[in-house]
Amino acid sequence: MLERTILIVKPDGVRRGLVGEVIRRIENKGLKITRLRMIYPSIECIEQLYDVHKGKPFYKDLIEFMSSGPIIAMIVEGDEAVKVVRNLIGSTDGREASPGTIRGDYALSIRENIVHAADSVERAEYEIKVVFSETCGDF
Ligand code: CMP
Repeated sequence: MLERTILIVKPDGVRRGLVGEVIRRIENKGLKITRLRMIYPSIECIEQLYDVHKGKPFYKDLIEFMSSGPIIAMIVEGDEAVKVVRNLIGSTDGREASPGTIRGDYALSIRENIVHAADSVERAEYEIKVVFSETCGDF
């Protein structure tokens, strides 16, 4: 089933120069990038993106980290794109993520884990609306 999802290269991924590597993996898989935007996101935008984590112990640090520098947001399309992209990025904790995944190969942290991707078709639509809005941030 053709789906679209959102994939974000987080501030640590941009700082470390991993944007090309992430894009290469997405394209090598056969997925299509249909929109791409670099933004310096506002705190409000990141709070909306991570609304489901509000109140969790890591929430404050997460918001601070995600608004600490520019991010790259992409809309990615393909057969079962939501699941396929989640498999490509690997599990949340870089220390646990399987080798061969983006986080497994490049992250050693649970917070600074290079990338974010939506976990369902519904969440993807919500997150696309949040991040691709004019008010999310500048650049
Ligand atoms: P992400 O997939 O973008 O979804 C929520 C983010 O919160 C997650 O990646 C991490 O960056 C961060 N996160 C999740 N769990 C923890 C945790 N236990 N400690 C610190 N950060 C976390």
